Amino acid sequence: MSDTQVSVSVLSANPLEYGKEIAKVEESGAEMIHYDVMDGVFVNNITVGLPLLNSMKGRTSCILDVHLMIINPLKYIDDFAAAGADIITFHIESESDVEETIRSIHRNGVKAAVSIKPGTPAEAVFPYINDVDMVLVMTVEPGFGGQKFMDMSEKISAIRKYAKENRTVGLPLDIQVDGGIDDVTASIVKTAGANILVSGSYLFRAENMAEAVRTLKEDNSTNAE
Ligand code: DX5
Ligand code: ZN
Repeated sequence: MSDTQVSVSVLSANPLEYGKEIAKVEESGAEMIHYDVMDGVFVNNITVGLPLLNSMKGRTSCILDVHLMIINPLKYIDDFAAAGADIITFHIESESDVEETIRSIHRNGVKAAVSIKPGTPAEAVFPYINDVDMVLVMTVEPGFGGQKFMDMSEKISAIRKYAKENRTVGLPLDIQVDGGIDDVTASIVKTAGANILVSGSYLFRAENMAEAVRTLKEDNSTNAE
């Protein structure tokens, strides 16, 4: 059974039309808006910050899924929570203490997720399997939209298996993937065990975003095992 959810990366939206673009995402049937924050230090790019997120708060029924690609996420957790984040994902490769950052996110009543870059092994998230709500496996080097998909199937399967055997708290672990997700790569990551797909350029390029979202969700795999 597939219960795939889609998180639309607004990094690929037209910044001059954010209001309209967000309405389009909402009508597409996607569950989440993926909000990429980059600081020019953790990655070689600078994107959006607190004010834009704050302007979306309460204006959309989509879950606000914030992906922090910043060197010191702990310092900004309270701010992103106040600005409306429903989920905060930060990188295990950042300089913040991982456990302390997860605790800070939860203290704000927000869902917590850790992310790993393509070069970081699955085992890096194992110590936090009972602490987080979600793990984000990057399928590109973080920094830019529109990059070519890197197959992380083994890593996704290893995390799914480890969570099944070792997670004793909360709901089943959500495994999110981000980078190069389209109609072809979606089935690869779902088969490996991912259940939340981030997609930016594929969805904003599509003539009909709702149809493209349905294509990503198509029940052609298991999300697990
Ligand atoms: C990349 C960002 C992604 C990006 C995905 O560092 O984290 O969320 O927007 O864009 P696509 O789907 O175009 O690869
Ligand atoms: Zn992202």
